[in-house]
Amino acid sequence: MKRTRKKMMVKKLRGRDYLSVDDFSTEEIKSILRLTADIKAHPKRYRKVLDGKMMALIFEKPSLRTRTTFTVGIKQLGGDSLLLTPADINLGKRESVFDVAKNLERMVDGIMIRTFGHDICESLAAHASIPVINGLTDLEHPCQAMADIFTVIEHRKSLKRLKLSYIGDGNNVAHSLMLIAAKLGTTLFVGTPESHKPAQSMLDRATAIAADTGATVTWTADPMEAARDADVMYTDTWTSMGQEAEADARRKTFAPYQVNRDLFSHAKPDALFMHCLPAHRGEEVTDEIIDAPNSVVFQQAENRLHAQKAIMYELLRD
Ligand code: CP
Ligand code: NVA
Repeated sequence: MKRTRKKMMVKKLRGRDYLSVDDFSTEEIKSILRLTADIKAHPKRYRKVLDGKMMALIFEKPSLRTRTTFTVGIKQLGGDSLLLTPADINLGKRESVFDVAKNLERMVDGIMIRTFGHDICESLAAHASIPVINGLTDLEHPCQAMADIFTVIEHRKSLKRLKLSYIGDGNNVAHSLMLIAAKLGTTLFVGTPESHKPAQSMLDRATAIAADTGATVTWTADPMEAARDADVMYTDTWTSMGQEAEADARRKTFAPYQVNRDLFSHAKPDALFMHCLPAHRGEEVTDEIIDAPNSVVFQQAENRLHAQKAIMYELLRD
Protein backbone atom coordinates (compact mmCIF):
# COMPACT_ATOMS: atom_id res chain seq x y z
CA MET A 1 0.00 0.00 0.00
CA LYS A 2 2.74 2.39 1.06
CA ARG A 3 4.74 1.48 -2.04
CA THR A 4 1.78 2.11 -4.32
CA ARG A 5 1.22 5.51 -2.77
CA LYS A 6 4.88 6.42 -3.25
CA LYS A 7 4.74 5.30 -6.86
CA MET A 8 1.72 7.48 -7.48
CA MET A 9 3.49 10.49 -5.96
CA VAL A 10 6.40 9.96 -8.33
CA LYS A 11 4.11 9.57 -11.31
CA LYS A 12 2.50 12.88 -10.56
CA LEU A 13 5.77 14.71 -11.20
CA ARG A 14 5.45 14.17 -14.95
CA GLY A 15 4.84 17.43 -16.81
CA ARG A 16 5.47 19.65 -13.77
CA ASP A 17 7.95 22.48 -13.26
CA TYR A 18 10.78 22.67 -10.72
CA LEU A 19 11.26 26.38 -10.08
CA SER A 20 11.51 26.23 -6.30
CA VAL A 21 12.25 23.50 -3.77
CA ASP A 22 8.75 24.34 -2.56
CA ASP A 23 7.28 22.98 -5.82
CA PHE A 24 7.88 19.45 -4.52
CA SER A 25 6.39 17.89 -1.39
CA THR A 26 8.55 16.17 1.19
CA GLU A 27 7.62 12.77 -0.27
CA GLU A 28 8.37 13.95 -3.82
CA ILE A 29 11.80 15.23 -2.76
CA LYS A 30 12.49 11.90 -1.05
CA SER A 31 11.46 10.03 -4.20
CA ILE A 32 13.84 12.16 -6.30
CA LEU A 33 16.63 11.46 -3.80
CA ARG A 34 15.96 7.70 -3.99
CA LEU A 35 15.98 7.87 -7.78
CA THR A 36 19.19 9.91 -7.73
CA ALA A 37 20.86 7.13 -5.74
CA ASP A 38 19.66 4.50 -8.22
CA ILE A 39 20.73 6.52 -11.27
CA LYS A 40 24.15 7.11 -9.72
CA ALA A 41 24.57 3.42 -8.87
CA HIS A 42 23.17 2.06 -12.16
CA PRO A 43 23.55 4.74 -14.87
CA LYS A 44 23.31 2.20 -17.71
CA ARG A 45 19.77 1.23 -16.73
CA TYR A 46 18.68 4.77 -17.59
CA ARG A 47 20.44 5.09 -20.95
CA LYS A 48 17.28 5.31 -23.04
CA VAL A 49 14.60 6.54 -20.66
CA LEU A 50 14.37 9.96 -22.31
CA ASP A 51 15.01 8.66 -25.83
CA GLY A 52 14.61 11.48 -28.36
CA LYS A 53 13.68 14.14 -25.77
CA MET A 54 15.14 17.59 -26.30
CA MET A 55 15.92 20.13 -23.56
CA ALA A 56 16.47 23.83 -24.31
CA LEU A 57 19.10 25.24 -21.94
CA ILE A 58 18.70 29.01 -21.53
CA PHE A 59 21.66 30.73 -19.87
CA GLU A 60 21.60 34.43 -19.08
CA LYS A 61 24.47 34.08 -16.59
CA PRO A 62 27.74 32.12 -16.83
CA SER A 63 27.99 28.49 -15.72
CA LEU A 64 30.37 25.56 -15.57
CA ARG A 65 28.52 22.96 -13.50
CA THR A 66 24.92 23.64 -14.49
CA ARG A 67 25.65 23.79 -18.19
CA THR A 68 27.85 20.70 -18.15
CA THR A 69 25.61 18.57 -15.94
CA PHE A 70 22.40 19.34 -17.82
CA THR A 71 24.07 18.81 -21.21
CA VAL A 72 25.73 15.56 -20.19
CA GLY A 73 22.77 14.42 -18.07
CA ILE A 74 20.11 14.59 -20.78
CA LYS A 75 22.51 12.89 -23.22
CA GLN A 76 23.08 10.04 -20.74
CA LEU A 77 19.30 9.55 -20.55
CA GLY A 78 19.03 9.18 -24.34
CA GLY A 79 18.00 12.76 -25.12
CA ASP A 80 19.77 15.86 -26.32
CA SER A 81 20.01 19.57 -25.58
CA LEU A 82 20.26 22.91 -27.25
CA LEU A 83 22.08 25.89 -25.73
CA LEU A 84 20.40 29.31 -25.93
CA THR A 85 22.46 32.29 -24.74
CA PRO A 86 21.58 36.01 -24.71
CA ALA A 87 23.33 36.27 -28.08
CA ASP A 88 20.67 33.89 -29.45
CA ILE A 89 17.41 34.96 -27.82
CA ASN A 90 18.02 38.06 -25.64
CA LEU A 91 15.03 37.05 -23.53
CA GLY A 92 12.52 39.82 -22.92
CA LYS A 93 14.29 42.26 -25.24
CA ARG A 94 14.48 40.71 -28.70
CA GLU A 95 11.35 38.77 -27.89
CA SER A 96 8.95 38.58 -24.95
CA VAL A 97 9.14 35.75 -22.42
CA PHE A 98 5.60 34.80 -23.49
CA ASP A 99 6.61 34.46 -27.16
CA VAL A 100 9.75 32.48 -26.30
CA ALA A 101 7.60 30.08 -24.22
CA LYS A 102 5.05 29.69 -27.02
CA ASN A 103 7.79 28.91 -29.56
CA LEU A 104 9.83 26.52 -27.45
CA GLU A 105 6.85 24.43 -26.28
CA ARG A 106 6.34 23.41 -29.93
CA MET A 107 10.00 22.53 -30.50
CA VAL A 108 11.44 20.93 -27.36
CA ASP A 109 10.28 18.75 -24.46
CA GLY A 110 11.63 20.75 -21.53
CA ILE A 111 13.41 23.98 -20.66
CA MET A 112 16.13 24.71 -18.14
CA ILE A 113 16.61 28.40 -17.47
CA ARG A 114 19.32 30.31 -15.57
CA THR A 115 18.35 33.94 -15.31
CA PHE A 116 18.21 36.96 -12.98
CA GLY A 117 14.65 37.66 -11.81
CA HIS A 118 12.75 34.68 -10.45
CA ASP A 119 9.64 36.24 -12.05
CA ILE A 120 11.15 35.60 -15.50
CA CYS A 121 11.49 31.92 -14.68
CA GLU A 122 7.93 31.82 -13.31
CA SER A 123 6.55 33.64 -16.32
CA LEU A 124 8.28 31.25 -18.73
CA ALA A 125 6.85 28.29 -16.81
CA ALA A 126 3.37 29.82 -16.68
CA HIS A 127 3.26 30.27 -20.46
CA ALA A 128 5.06 27.11 -21.62
CA SER A 129 3.10 23.85 -21.60
CA ILE A 130 6.32 21.86 -21.11
CA PRO A 131 8.32 21.39 -17.86
CA VAL A 132 10.59 24.28 -16.86
CA ILE A 133 13.51 23.71 -14.48
CA ASN A 134 15.18 26.53 -12.56
CA GLY A 135 18.95 26.36 -13.13
CA LEU A 136 19.44 29.37 -10.78
CA THR A 137 17.66 32.67 -10.35
CA ASP A 138 18.42 35.54 -7.98
CA LEU A 139 15.97 33.92 -5.54
CA GLU A 140 16.66 30.18 -5.69
CA HIS A 141 18.95 27.38 -6.85
CA PRO A 142 16.73 24.33 -6.31
CA CYS A 143 18.78 21.80 -8.33
CA GLN A 144 21.80 22.69 -6.22
CA ALA A 145 19.83 22.06 -3.02
CA MET A 146 18.72 18.63 -4.27
CA ALA A 147 22.31 17.62 -5.08
CA ASP A 148 23.58 19.06 -1.81
CA ILE A 149 21.16 17.24 0.43
CA PHE A 150 21.85 14.04 -1.53
CA THR A 151 25.56 14.59 -0.81
CA VAL A 152 24.91 15.00 2.92
CA ILE A 153 22.87 11.78 2.97
CA GLU A 154 25.66 9.93 1.13
CA HIS A 155 28.07 10.91 3.89
CA ARG A 156 25.84 10.79 6.95
CA LYS A 157 23.21 8.18 5.90
CA SER A 158 20.39 10.10 7.59
CA LEU A 159 19.55 13.75 8.14
CA LYS A 160 18.20 12.98 11.58
CA ARG A 161 19.97 14.66 14.50
CA LEU A 162 22.28 16.61 12.18
CA LYS A 163 22.97 20.29 12.49
CA LEU A 164 23.55 21.92 9.12
CA SER A 165 25.06 25.35 9.09
CA TYR A 166 25.13 27.86 6.23
CA ILE A 167 27.37 30.87 6.77
CA GLY A 168 27.81 33.91 4.52
CA ASP A 169 25.33 35.65 2.25
CA GLY A 170 21.58 35.02 2.59
CA ASN A 171 21.30 34.39 -1.15
CA ASN A 172 19.66 32.03 -3.68
CA VAL A 173 21.69 29.02 -2.49
CA ALA A 174 20.80 29.76 1.16
CA HIS A 175 17.11 30.12 0.26
CA SER A 176 16.88 26.74 -1.48
CA LEU A 177 18.88 25.07 1.30
CA MET A 178 16.49 26.51 3.90
CA LEU A 179 13.49 25.16 2.02
CA ILE A 180 14.91 21.68 1.49
CA ALA A 181 16.10 21.45 5.12
CA ALA A 182 12.62 22.49 6.25
CA LYS A 183 10.91 19.97 3.93
CA LEU A 184 13.13 17.14 5.15
CA GLY A 185 12.81 17.88 8.87
CA THR A 186 16.41 18.92 9.41
CA THR A 187 18.06 21.49 11.69
CA LEU A 188 19.64 24.38 9.79
CA PHE A 189 21.32 27.48 11.18
CA VAL A 190 21.86 30.34 8.74
CA GLY A 191 24.51 32.82 9.86
CA THR A 192 24.61 36.04 7.84
CA PRO A 193 25.09 39.75 8.53
CA GLU A 194 21.80 41.41 9.48
CA SER A 195 22.10 43.50 6.28
CA HIS A 196 22.27 40.36 4.11
CA LYS A 197 19.83 38.00 5.79
CA PRO A 198 17.78 35.65 3.66
CA ALA A 199 14.61 37.20 2.22
CA GLN A 200 11.93 37.47 4.93
CA SER A 201 9.45 35.67 2.65
CA MET A 202 11.84 32.71 2.45
CA LEU A 203 12.46 32.68 6.22
CA ASP A 204 8.70 32.78 6.79
CA ARG A 205 8.05 29.99 4.30
CA ALA A 206 10.83 27.79 5.71
CA THR A 207 9.49 28.38 9.23
CA ALA A 208 5.96 27.48 8.16
CA ILE A 209 7.13 24.26 6.47
CA ALA A 210 9.30 23.44 9.50
CA ALA A 211 6.28 23.70 11.79
CA ASP A 212 4.79 20.74 9.88
CA THR A 213 7.90 18.60 9.51
CA GLY A 214 9.62 19.14 12.86
CA ALA A 215 12.56 20.93 11.21
CA THR A 216 14.31 23.93 12.74
CA VAL A 217 15.46 26.78 10.51
CA THR A 218 17.14 29.51 12.53
CA TRP A 219 18.70 32.75 11.35
CA THR A 220 21.46 34.36 13.40
CA ALA A 221 23.89 37.22 12.81
CA ASP A 222 26.47 35.35 14.91
CA PRO A 223 28.65 33.08 12.74
CA MET A 224 29.89 31.26 15.85
CA GLU A 225 26.34 30.35 16.91
CA ALA A 226 25.70 28.96 13.43
CA ALA A 227 28.99 27.04 13.43
CA ARG A 228 28.77 25.59 16.95
CA ASP A 229 28.65 21.76 16.88
CA ALA A 230 27.69 21.74 13.21
CA ASP A 231 27.85 18.46 11.29
CA VAL A 232 27.99 20.33 7.99
CA MET A 233 29.31 23.81 7.32
CA TYR A 234 28.24 25.34 4.00
CA THR A 235 29.23 28.63 2.43
CA ASP A 236 28.85 30.37 -0.92
CA THR A 237 30.33 33.37 -2.68
CA TRP A 238 29.81 36.75 -1.00
CA THR A 239 29.11 38.33 -4.41
CA SER A 240 26.59 36.51 -6.55
CA MET A 241 26.32 36.90 -10.31
CA GLY A 242 24.83 40.31 -11.04
CA GLN A 243 26.20 41.92 -7.83
CA GLU A 244 29.74 42.52 -9.08
CA ALA A 245 29.56 46.31 -8.47
CA GLU A 246 29.14 45.61 -4.73
CA ALA A 247 32.12 43.24 -4.48
CA ASP A 248 34.44 45.57 -2.50
CA ALA A 249 31.79 46.55 0.04
CA ARG A 250 30.73 42.94 0.41
CA ARG A 251 34.30 41.77 1.11
CA LYS A 252 34.31 44.11 4.15
CA THR A 253 30.81 43.22 5.38
CA PHE A 254 31.33 39.48 5.17
CA ALA A 255 34.91 39.27 6.53
CA PRO A 256 33.74 37.96 9.98
CA TYR A 257 31.83 35.20 8.18
CA GLN A 258 34.84 33.67 6.41
CA VAL A 259 34.94 29.90 6.85
CA ASN A 260 38.49 29.47 8.08
CA ARG A 261 40.26 27.28 10.61
CA ASP A 262 39.01 29.43 13.50
CA LEU A 263 35.34 29.32 12.58
CA PHE A 264 35.54 25.67 11.54
CA SER A 265 36.99 24.75 14.95
CA HIS A 266 33.53 25.45 16.44
CA ALA A 267 31.98 22.67 14.32
CA LYS A 268 32.15 18.96 15.15
CA PRO A 269 35.64 17.52 14.54
CA ASP A 270 34.41 15.43 11.58
CA ALA A 271 32.20 18.16 10.09
CA LEU A 272 31.80 18.24 6.31
CA PHE A 273 32.64 21.40 4.39
CA MET A 274 30.31 22.25 1.50
CA HIS A 275 30.27 24.92 -1.21
CA CYS A 276 28.19 25.04 -4.38
CA LEU A 277 31.16 26.48 -6.34
CA PRO A 278 32.59 28.56 -7.90
CA ALA A 279 34.63 29.34 -4.76
CA HIS A 280 36.62 32.47 -4.11
CA ARG A 281 39.51 31.10 -2.13
CA GLY A 282 40.74 33.53 0.51
CA GLU A 283 37.33 35.24 0.62
CA GLU A 284 34.41 33.13 1.85
CA VAL A 285 36.67 30.11 2.48
CA THR A 286 40.36 29.52 3.02
CA ASP A 287 42.40 26.96 1.07
CA GLU A 288 43.01 24.81 4.14
CA ILE A 289 39.26 24.32 4.63
CA ILE A 290 38.19 23.76 1.02
CA ASP A 291 41.16 21.46 0.37
CA ALA A 292 40.75 19.46 3.61
CA PRO A 293 39.83 15.75 3.42
CA ASN A 294 36.34 16.42 4.80
CA SER A 295 35.55 18.94 2.06
CA VAL A 296 32.94 17.42 -0.27
CA VAL A 297 32.68 20.25 -2.79
CA PHE A 298 33.54 18.15 -5.84
CA GLN A 299 31.14 15.38 -4.81
CA GLN A 300 28.46 18.07 -4.63
CA ALA A 301 29.37 19.17 -8.15
CA GLU A 302 29.23 15.59 -9.45
CA ASN A 303 25.92 14.97 -7.71
CA ARG A 304 24.38 17.81 -9.71
CA LEU A 305 24.58 15.40 -12.65
CA HIS A 306 22.83 12.51 -10.91
CA ALA A 307 20.18 14.63 -9.16
CA GLN A 308 19.27 16.54 -12.32
CA LYS A 309 19.04 13.30 -14.29
CA ALA A 310 16.49 12.16 -11.71
CA ILE A 311 14.60 15.46 -11.98
CA MET A 312 14.59 15.50 -15.80
CA TYR A 313 13.54 11.86 -15.92
CA GLU A 314 10.58 12.39 -13.61
CA LEU A 315 9.38 15.60 -15.28
CA LEU A 316 9.93 14.66 -18.92
CA ARG A 317 9.19 10.94 -19.16
CA ASP A 318 6.23 9.70 -21.19
N1 CP B 1 27.05 25.62 -8.60
C1 CP B 1 26.73 26.04 -9.83
O1 CP B 1 25.55 26.22 -10.16
O2 CP B 1 27.79 26.22 -10.65
P1 CP B 1 27.77 26.95 -12.06
O3 CP B 1 27.46 28.41 -11.79
O4 CP B 1 29.14 26.76 -12.65
O5 CP B 1 26.70 26.34 -12.92
N1 NVA C 1 25.05 32.54 -5.26
C1 NVA C 1 25.82 32.26 -6.44
C2 NVA C 1 25.70 30.82 -6.82
C3 NVA C 1 26.52 30.41 -8.00
C4 NVA C 1 26.31 28.97 -8.39
C5 NVA C 1 25.36 33.16 -7.56
O1 NVA C 1 24.15 33.35 -7.72
O2 NVA C 1 26.21 33.66 -8.31
